[in-house]
Amino acid sequence: MPLVTTTEMFKKAYDGGYAIGAFNVNNMEIVQGITEAAKELSAPLILQVSKGARAYANPIYLRKLVEAALEDTGLPICLHLDHGDTFETCKDCIDGGFTSVMIDGSHHSFEDNIAVTKKVVEYAHDHGVVVEAELGRLAGVEDDIKVSAEDSSYTHPEEVEEFVSKTGVDSLAIAIGTSHGAFKFKGEPKLRFDILEEITKKLPGFPIVLHGASSVIPEFVDMINKFGGDMPGAQGVPEEMLRQAARSAVCKINIDSDLRLAMTGTIRKYFAENPSHFDPRQYLKPARSAIKDMVKHKIDVVLGCAGKA
Ligand code: G3H
Ligand code: 13P
Ligand code: ZN
Repeated sequence: MPLVTTTEMFKKAYDGGYAIGAFNVNNMEIVQGITEAAKELSAPLILQVSKGARAYANPIYLRKLVEAALEDTGLPICLHLDHGDTFETCKDCIDGGFTSVMIDGSHHSFEDNIAVTKKVVEYAHDHGVVVEAELGRLAGVEDDIKVSAEDSSYTHPEEVEEFVSKTGVDSLAIAIGTSHGAFKFKGEPKLRFDILEEITKKLPGFPIVLHGASSVIPEFVDMINKFGGDMPGAQGVPEEMLRQAARSAVCKINIDSDLRLAMTGTIRKYFAENPSHFDPRQYLKPARSAIKDMVKHKIDVVLGCAGKA
């Protein structure tokens, strides 16, 4: 099966009350851990690549790794550009075989966000590729740019219809209180489900995307803190809130930080217990297994997309 777009995936997810996991990939062990989990649970998958991942790994390596995953699993897999910053980055990915791109114009004015999104949609649709855009602004760190809580803003429901009809975009990322990274809430976690509901009323049947949706799994934060790390106050989105989102119009849930924490926590533990080891395969193997187990849990318990491939 070739790479797929998100069109079918999102339609089934919307109607079925579940969400597809969109996992960020940066190297072979991350790709393998995620895809082995999806294969065992027969889950559809979005593998996403950020600008930072492209700079780190060289885009051709990531694309070939995803092609290998496709061949190995036979699953419906979408290859998605995460947080595309310009038309040129999106075009490069479309020309390079991606089946979905995000143009993140959330830092632009409403009019400029519409203009750049429309330009990407026209090019993408001409090439059979789907487009995600963003309205509202999440806090946190993406591609080394830190957005403070003061500069973040919830999506305005009154803007979504005009944005979608003027751009022709296929899905919309919204800001309802999640943020990127491992420090999402200062106090009690709170998401604005009322805003999500208003948006859903204005865009019935339209797929919504939730960024910044890692749970910052305490088991891995504790592991990091126990074995020489220092992450006081790390906190993510509670699983019950993600389940609630997955049952609603949210069809795509973005997860990166949980992969990083699983990998780093496991490697820290490994070296604490095996200080003389130096073969990368020895410590990357348990790290890959930890990713696999964590992703299986997400698919099964949080996203609800097991058996939906
Ligand atoms: O939203 C950001 C993703 O976690 C990707 O992070 O830009 O550091 O690769 P990155
Ligand atoms: P997390 O930092 O919560 O994993 O969010 C990832 C994300 O939104 C990627 O676009
Ligand atoms: Zn994001």
